[in-house]
Amino acid sequence: MSNNNALKHGAEKGSLILEGRKIIKTYPTPRGKLTVLSDASIAASRGEMLAVMGASGSGKSTLLHALGALDKIDSGTVLLDGQDISKKSETSRAEIRNGRIGFMFQFYHLFSDFNALDNVLMPARIGRRMNGQKRKELLERAAGLLERVGLGDRMLHRPFELSGGEQQRVAIARALLNEPDVILADEPTGNLDPVTGRTIHELLKSLNREYNQTMIIVTHNPSLVKMCDRVTYLVDGKVTTDLPKGFLTVPTSRDGTKK
Ligand SMILES: Nc1ncnc2c1ncn2[C@@H]1O[C@H](COP(=O)(O)OP(=O)(O)OP(=O)(O)O)[C@@H](O)[C@H]1O
Ligand SMILES: [Mg+2]
Repeated sequence: MSNNNALKHGAEKGSLILEGRKIIKTYPTPRGKLTVLSDASIAASRGEMLAVMGASGSGKSTLLHALGALDKIDSGTVLLDGQDISKKSETSRAEIRNGRIGFMFQFYHLFSDFNALDNVLMPARIGRRMNGQKRKELLERAAGLLERVGLGDRMLHRPFELSGGEQQRVAIARALLNEPDVILADEPTGNLDPVTGRTIHELLKSLNREYNQTMIIVTHNPSLVKMCDRVTYLVDGKVTTDLPKGFLTVPTSRDGTKK
């Protein structure tokens, strides 16, 4: 990644970058409307690494989809650098997503006909023509990212020739290709063994430190939570910092426990 990018991400460290305000999200079901997010508010500062925890079914993935403008919300706003992205057309939401937000989600959505390297390159292909020099740079970056997630020797494998955890790591490398300002991660290392998971956690932390990328991470992994600056919980459709019953406190890096 370029030094320019370090400046880009570091320009206004500490200022708010992504904010969800009073988000209400319902799903239609045969038994009526299901309200999953009811007045959920959350804000992440530039360079912040924020953990989101909560019981299964509490709405964590729904919240990340809303923050990434992947899904329409019933009401509320999602502000990226102060601009409401939740009400924009699908086309402009897709442009914003592709340029500024990187997704690491539970389902990897890799293209089955493309190998790992081409899958990682996919975000650069969307809406852009690549000339020779640009293409070379992107290829090098994609290959470098695959090396960093431990897949240097699997670049030419197609998804069906990769294990679940390897596919997950391809999706992680893909999310990082466009050097997004914000990374939204949904249990990014949920399927990985502890050693590989730890490598990915360290990669995320180093990107957060080096490039000041903002990260909102849904996870139950204590070692990843420890690396975060702050922990929030999703309870009854709202985001809170109060520890819910049955959850253990995990000291975070901001507590000074882990640097
Ligand atoms: N498209 C949908 N239609 C109807 N209900 C849905 C839909 N998507 C999610 N839900 C419901 O919304 C609730 C929140 O789902 P969500 O996937 O956000 O939970 P989660 O906190 O991410 O859970 P997990 O930890 O298991 O991944 C769940 O009860 C789920 O059944
Ligand atoms: Mg989920």
